[in-house]
Amino acid sequence: MASHFDNLYGKTVMITGCRRGIGRTAIGLFAAQGCNLICCIRQKDEAFAKFVEQLSAQYHVKMEVLCFDIADEEAIKGTVKMLIKEKRRVDVLVNNAGIATGGILQMTSMKVLKEVFQINFFSMVLLTQLVSKLMIRQHCGSIINMGSIAGLENFAGYTAYGSSKAAVMAFTRTIARELAPYGIRVNAIAPGLTDTRMADQMEKKAEKEIIARSNMNRLGKTEEIVNMILFLSSDNASFITGQVYRVDGGM
Ligand SMILES: NC(=O)c1ccc[n+]([C@@H]2O[C@H](COP(=O)([O-])OP(=O)(O)OC[C@H]3O[C@@H](n4cnc5c(N)ncnc54)[C@H](OP(=O)(O)O)[C@@H]3O)[C@@H](O)[C@H]2O)c1
Repeated sequence: MASHFDNLYGKTVMITGCRRGIGRTAIGLFAAQGCNLICCIRQKDEAFAKFVEQLSAQYHVKMEVLCFDIADEEAIKGTVKMLIKEKRRVDVLVNNAGIATGGILQMTSMKVLKEVFQINFFSMVLLTQLVSKLMIRQHCGSIINMGSIAGLENFAGYTAYGSSKAAVMAFTRTIARELAPYGIRVNAIAPGLTDTRMADQMEKKAEKEIIARSNMNRLGKTEEIVNMILFLSSDNASFITGQVYRVDGGM
């Protein structure tokens, strides 16, 4: 069941990686709270455009789709420059886009390591740096970064992904301290294995082993992760910053 937070009504939420998975569920549930959405996806997609139009009509909210590859730093700069030029607000930034490529240490090339860090970490840092300038002017904002239990636990085969997510979580704690004086809260979520294409692409044996380590012994549902995103975005979390919340069925 989805949570409801009245105080999110009318807020503008920017989310990366929302064409599918956790991000897609998030835009639906934010729209249901009455939020206006800036949906960032990698490239134009007719089916996604229709999905967004339906949400906009159903919940009477503004939904904008911005297309750029999160690995492209110039595209990130151009996107935020446009938001600043148009004097737009961003109340909530959800840094959700991510990839889980990798393997065991000896099989992890520097190319893969750098690609994973570019998407999961460096681009997140750049986007946050730029959007937080807008939030500093507004003197308020909430930033939610997608970490992972892979950045907290010890799983073989996660040199690239796990290390990038550990960086995300350290970054979260660091900037929470820097941005608190401007009324900006920053938190991270560390989901356990969740039912999206990312989990689908795992080797079944590894997936079973990770699930078996959790008390609840099942995959998470995207809605269960998004409920935590909604809470941290809302004023109900007004005294919470610099934290990493595990949503992992008890690992
Ligand atoms: N599922 C899990 O088990 C799990 C567990 C812990 C943490 N997480 C984290 O949760 C977040 C969402 O993952 P998910 O499970 O929803 O996975 P997903 O279904 O694979 O979705 C990932 C999203 O990120 C986007 N993305 C990836 N690379 C991109 C790029 N270069 N430019 C723009 N967008 C890009 C994808 O875009 P396209 O649709 O264009 O490919 C996709 O929409 C990720 O940060 C992930 O690490 C997931």
